[in-house]
Amino acid sequence: MTDELAAADIIAEAAGPKTADPVANGEPEVFSPRLAGSKDMIVTEHVDKWFGDFQALDDVSLRIKEEEIVVILGPSGSGKSTYIRCLNRLEEHDAGRIVIDGIEMNEDVRALQAIRSEVGMVFQQFNLFPHLSVLGNITLGPQKVRHMPKLEAEALAMQLLERVGIPEQADKYPSQLSGGQQQRVAIARALAMQPKIMLFDEPTSALDPEMIKEVLDVMQELAESGMTMIVVTHEMGFAREVADRLVFFDEGALVEQGTPEHFFTNPREERTKLFLSQIL
Ligand SMILES: Nc1ncnc2c1ncn2[C@@H]1O[C@H](COP(=O)(O)OP(=O)(O)O)[C@@H](O)[C@H]1O
Ligand SMILES: [Mg+2]
Repeated sequence: MTDELAAADIIAEAAGPKTADPVANGEPEVFSPRLAGSKDMIVTEHVDKWFGDFQALDDVSLRIKEEEIVVILGPSGSGKSTYIRCLNRLEEHDAGRIVIDGIEMNEDVRALQAIRSEVGMVFQQFNLFPHLSVLGNITLGPQKVRHMPKLEAEALAMQLLERVGIPEQADKYPSQLSGGQQQRVAIARALAMQPKIMLFDEPTSALDPEMIKEVLDVMQELAESGMTMIVVTHEMGFAREVADRLVFFDEGALVEQGTPEHFFTNPREERTKLFLSQIL
């Protein structure tokens, strides 16, 4: 055994068995008084995901309330992207249950379509269609999937561009925009499908530092508007200000969760402390 593995074993041992703690194991819990009485919007129970013989998610249980803002933290490779990709079936989970807004994720194509129509996603790399204008990017989904008339889709797109602060960019192409502007278009594009849930996978990690705030500001406004959001990010200012709950992943497992205050003042697990000491 290498020293590294031995060290990992010692840390794992110190952290105790993964399922011993009811909170870490995802028992229903309200992390913010404003969410008391809200319904569960996302329920995951004992979710496993394997890539070949590598386990990317290990018994992840997490319940998220309507209008809750959850920030997911964790080292690279800890399963953060895999987890949120399972929530709209960009990845298929291998075991456990996923229920989105009361719809069970299973082989039923209709259920999957219903879930997809409720869940918007924003990626690190924007993933805009390069051959379409900003307006074209935003109107494509509403027209193709929702069969919205073109003029209506364009009016909606303009409203959303106002909301994300770049109505003057409507006729440009993605390559003519800054990273921050492209990411704001990506958010507008996701919102055009009128989702109930927005998933963000490191939305500011590919941005130059001076553009991070303009994207975080849009996300904060969205959070305040009552969207249910899961945000994978290392932006601790955002986590502290906006999140109802922080969740820490390591090695595919949900290791610890709590309020921002808990994480910043009194994290419990050694692995959480180590991670926070590295990023703060
Ligand atoms: N499609 C895939 N095929 C094989 N391994 C994958 C695939 N996607 C992710 N993984 C592995 O699963 C682990 C978790 O990945 P990921 O969820 O992307 O981590 P994070 O987002 O926390 O950095 C990593 O070790 C990664 O290499
Ligand atoms: Mg990732």
